[in-house]
Amino acid sequence: MLEKLVINGGKPLNGRVRVSSAKNAVLPIIAATMLASTPSRLVEVPHLEDVHTICEVISALGVKVTKDEANQEIRFDASEITATEAPYELVRRMRASFLVMGPLLARRREARISLPGGCAIGSRPIDLHLKAFEALGATIEMGDGYVLASAPEGLKGNQIYLDFPSVGATENVIMAASMAEGKTIIENAAEEPEIVDLVTYLNSMGADIRGAGTNVIRIQGVKELKGATHTVIPDRIEAGTYLIAAAMAGGDVYVENALSEHLKPVVAKLKEAGVTVQEDVDGIRVISDGNVKAVDIKTLPYPGFPTDMQAQFMAFTTIAKGTSTVMETVFENRFMHVDELKKMGAQIRIEERRAIVDGVPKLKGTEVRATDLRAGAALVCAGLAAEGVTKVTQLSHIDRGYDNLVGKLKGLGADIVRVDE
Ligand code: EPZ
Repeated sequence: MLEKLVINGGKPLNGRVRVSSAKNAVLPIIAATMLASTPSRLVEVPHLEDVHTICEVISALGVKVTKDEANQEIRFDASEITATEAPYELVRRMRASFLVMGPLLARRREARISLPGGCAIGSRPIDLHLKAFEALGATIEMGDGYVLASAPEGLKGNQIYLDFPSVGATENVIMAASMAEGKTIIENAAEEPEIVDLVTYLNSMGADIRGAGTNVIRIQGVKELKGATHTVIPDRIEAGTYLIAAAMAGGDVYVENALSEHLKPVVAKLKEAGVTVQEDVDGIRVISDGNVKAVDIKTLPYPGFPTDMQAQFMAFTTIAKGTSTVMETVFENRFMHVDELKKMGAQIRIEERRAIVDGVPKLKGTEVRATDLRAGAALVCAGLAAEGVTKVTQLSHIDRGYDNLVGKLKGLGADIVRVDE
């Protein structure tokens, strides 16, 4: 049944909240478990819809997945990959399912995957993935909504230049090249921390990969990878979302398990806006009276300002003193939250990839809908700071990427409940 969040805004947030493991690290890592001929174990796995979906995809390909929900552990036995076709209804549900193509090519030398649909934030093509697989010796055929990749003689290492530092393409190619014959060099690779975590896991399985976190990654292919135990890094976007929530609602919040190293641009912008931010080895503290100043942001591939924090930060600017500009350079249509924020009284106008936000003293609670994952998170942050009651619908988007959002916000003193629509 459909549910909605009901938020009674205007209350400051106080206390400690612990960040879960990173969605955008655990998804490629679960795909990578397919490369191992002996079992792997992931610990502290977050309860996310997307984790459930990617587990369904690899199970359909023959991986035995054993979940220990109580201990947040999952075991993966990929000794047998019995199928090479990812089911349409699963790939349609989550684009990250496409990350099984690299492992399938490495283990079975073929993969048939339905084209991942676009989504609210853009068309999200996969051309960079396919071009890179061809460079590794795969032949690519586009069928009726399917992509068929095959490399009967096995993949061969090569020099690959990514036209754009795509996170998914970098991850897919790393996984394929990890078991290719010879050496692969990826240039203009994505540098996100989630890629570093994927490579940490792969190297613990016996891979030989260097340079993760820089824009040149060197991979020496190996014949076999063995399963390993891995703890996924904390979710920097979940952490950043709680920083924004506290900065907007006001209060004193300590975000435990947040790595400030991974959030430099977000922390810098919050400080520029006049929010008190204190970083230590265990987490990040935000102290705010809700009075914040306008700032300009421009999203960029890591280490620039993360596109996944753009919607949340735009919500923040709607109640900042002065005029802010928000420029989105990574996705072509990631302003779906603008209309919903305007329903709450935000003053925003869009000029192509730039949004100009004139801060208002207060937002007003009303009914809004989550158009995508981070837009939903932005609307929750806005509802916490708004006067009156905000109702957020289309919660399936939020459930994909936030583990126990309501429980964690309640723990900080928010007046928020999840009810049937
Ligand atoms: C990953 O998506 C993340 N998802 C996204 O997080 C994140 O926004 C994005 O990286 C950028 O940081 C996961 O890791 C599961 P890209 P991905 O390939 O890999 C274009 C969230 O909210 N592009 O780096 O799909 C693409 O259209 C989600 O957690 C091509 O043109 O992102 C986009 O404009 C949303 N051709 C840009 O590159 C390609 O072959 C960045 O995409 C691939 C991408």
